[in-house]
Amino acid sequence: MTAGNRIVLSSDHSAIALRQAIAAHVEAQGWAAVDIGPTTPESTSYPEQGAAAARLVASGDCRFGIVLCGTGQGIMMAANKVKGIRCGVCADTFSARMIRQHNDANMLAIGARVVAEGLALDIVDAFLAAPFDGGRHVARVAMIGALEG
Ligand code: RB5
Repeated sequence: MTAGNRIVLSSDHSAIALRQAIAAHVEAQGWAAVDIGPTTPESTSYPEQGAAAARLVASGDCRFGIVLCGTGQGIMMAANKVKGIRCGVCADTFSARMIRQHNDANMLAIGARVVAEGLALDIVDAFLAAPFDGGRHVARVAMIGALEG
């Protein structure tokens, strides 16, 4: 198993079932799902779960991260506080494709109370299938990194 085929999955308590469905979905495609939970429904803090996933991506241990909370927004905000992370929250496949092609996103956030499972799996597929376009986008992505200080 290499970092190149590892996807870390994380959520808070509101998104356990969808996270597990996504883990099974990506495993069926040949990815290695690194599911860091939670597995029980007690209240869990999305900032901790988002940061833990983001650190595995930023360190190079995992190629991508997929994080979920009720809206996707809180866990996306937490993930983006980790240096080197570019995480977008998506509720449509167009955005999921574009955050890879233009923004070289390395993490995807989804709101489990916003998006039903079928669309969520399509969003994941769009994200994973799209390459970074490079070219004119390289300098702009570097500008995002420069903002990290
Ligand atoms: C938890 O109730 C909820 O606040 C959380 O899942 C998320 O939506 C926060 O952004």
